Amino acid sequence: MNRIKINSPEGDSLIILGGTVDDIRTLLPQKGLFIITDRNVQKFHGKKFPPGEVIAIEAGENSKTLRVVEEICGQMIRAGADRSAFVLGFGGGVVCDIAGMVASVYMRGVRHAFVSTTLLSQVDASIGGKTGVNLGEYKNTIGTFRQPEFVLCDHAMLTTLPETEMRSGMGELFKHAIIRDRNLFFDISASAGQIMEGDMAVAASLILRAARIKAGVVRRDPLEKGQRRILNFGHTFGHVIETHYGIPHGLAVARGMTVAAELSAWKGEMAHTELILMQGALEDAGLLTAHQLPAEVVRMISRDKKSESGSVNFVLLRSVGRAVIRRISISELEQFVSYYNEKESQSQ
Ligand code: GLY
Repeated sequence: MNRIKINSPEGDSLIILGGTVDDIRTLLPQKGLFIITDRNVQKFHGKKFPPGEVIAIEAGENSKTLRVVEEICGQMIRAGADRSAFVLGFGGGVVCDIAGMVASVYMRGVRHAFVSTTLLSQVDASIGGKTGVNLGEYKNTIGTFRQPEFVLCDHAMLTTLPETEMRSGMGELFKHAIIRDRNLFFDISASAGQIMEGDMAVAASLILRAARIKAGVVRRDPLEKGQRRILNFGHTFGHVIETHYGIPHGLAVARGMTVAAELSAWKGEMAHTELILMQGALEDAGLLTAHQLPAEVVRMISRDKKSESGSVNFVLLRSVGRAVIRRISISELEQFVSYYNEKESQSQ
């Protein structure tokens, strides 16, 4: 079992990797525990839930709405939750986003923690204190920052995940390597097959390295005023692809990373050979879908929360393992999208 601490002015968070639910029992209150989960997780892991009131939502991105947050708060108040309530989000990325949001707004904030059950949430969503729901087609537009007291990542739980969900998590696993750690990138590329076949020892060591990268970035910039933006690599294009085609988050991010890498090469920030290297690894790992940039891409990006006064903070690459943040104007983005679409249509 490994532990990573994130100490920040907004609160401390302990990430426990490799433990089981038994390892967190002493961290939970004797009463007033509210477990927010989804119906799939309840089916697979319900027997492991600690004693508490269970609130199960529909699994999937469609649950990320203010209405669902309101419904959960309603269930909590009817069940007698007061300010001493403790919310335990038990699930993947969607559950963590919603449970974190509920905990940060219910009675102006109650204690919370996560048991993270998917690869995507163990390497990304459960760590770092971002909470949020979608506003129609705009992803995570309403949300807060609030650090969970602790996050338990029980890697054995990953063995019940469907293949697509594992691949989606691989997208975020790769992302951490591509922005910060070239050696990790090569190690993930070499081990992708083993992870997909359920080798949890291999997965655990790579998850630990990715989680350390994420924790290090969050520690230095918990509220995303600067450096934390690099964790959004691939997300600006990825969110548009995800919303338009309804594909899993990590696969949309993988696609978005290749577009952002193209943009990096187009801007002269990165050598074309690095783009080929990155694309090849994502392709070999089975993460690249054929989805094209939808027509509304520029309009969507200009309303994204990363956009400010006619330009957007983009995460680009200098090389695989080294991300940089650059401001790009909407007109430059329009030029790039025309170039990209033209290139893609020629390669069909
Ligand atoms: N998923 C990006 C972040 O936590 O900042």
